[in-house]
Amino acid sequence: MAASAVPFIILLLVLLAAAGTRASPPASETVEQICARATSSGAHRDLAPFCVSSLQAAPGSSGADARGLAAIATNLTLANYTAAVATVKALQRRSGWSAAERGALATCRARYIEALNVVHSAVHALAKGRLDDYAADMGVVRKAATDCDGAFGGAGNSSESGAAPAASPMRKVNRDAVDLTTVATLIVRALE
Ligand SMILES: *[C@@H]1O[C@H](CO)[C@@H](O)[C@H](O)[C@H]1NC(C)=O
Ligand SMILES: *[C@@H]1O[C@H](CO)[C@@H](O)[C@H](O)[C@H]1NC(C)=O
Ligand SMILES: *[C@@H]1O[C@H](CO)[C@@H](O)[C@H](O)[C@H]1NC(C)=O
Repeated sequence: MAASAVPFIILLLVLLAAAGTRASPPASETVEQICARATSSGAHRDLAPFCVSSLQAAPGSSGADARGLAAIATNLTLANYTAAVATVKALQRRSGWSAAERGALATCRARYIEALNVVHSAVHALAKGRLDDYAADMGVVRKAATDCDGAFGGAGNSSESGAAPAASPMRKVNRDAVDLTTVATLIVRALE
């Protein structure tokens, strides 16, 4: 009895050690894992590939934890909105726009410039851990892009119709801006 109990106890210890190894969280999550976790609930599963591709391209993301990745995603949003303002200005310098299109571009420029200030506010809120303020700011930031889309007659709504996309020159910029803002917000929400 005593002789057979020893190997049994050793086996038990080995099994417990193995189970313990499996149950403990990985030393660090990959970008894929953080993106999968952030987009897992709600209606944003489809954003996981965009989350991974845009964040993996960002310097410093490979070693970052979820908190670091949240800061990187917010910085990327800031860079994206800065680039969006430059895109609108470049489009405005072109000739041949109708009065309606000129009006829409002016709306886009105003909304994106306003949003830039709010992204700065979001960066500070995140740094200070004020996550509710962060979420509110990013909601305003996101709305600038959808307002720009709306100024061009809802050119981003092609998914339902399947018709040829409306000719909004800001369509891809707006979609990227919305997707990046959403990804950053989801990663921050997953920190809570
Ligand atoms: C905004 O970010 C997306 C995703 O990283 C990128 O594909 C796009 O080129 C960026 N847009 C601008 C205007 O920089
Ligand atoms: C975000 O941008 C700020 C300002 O450029 C920089 O100081 C900070 O290191 C960046 N954070 C990350 C995580 O990239
Ligand atoms: C979709 O966009 C078209 C113009 O491109 C517009 O006429 C239509 O009302 C929009 N539909 C919705 C549901 O917003």
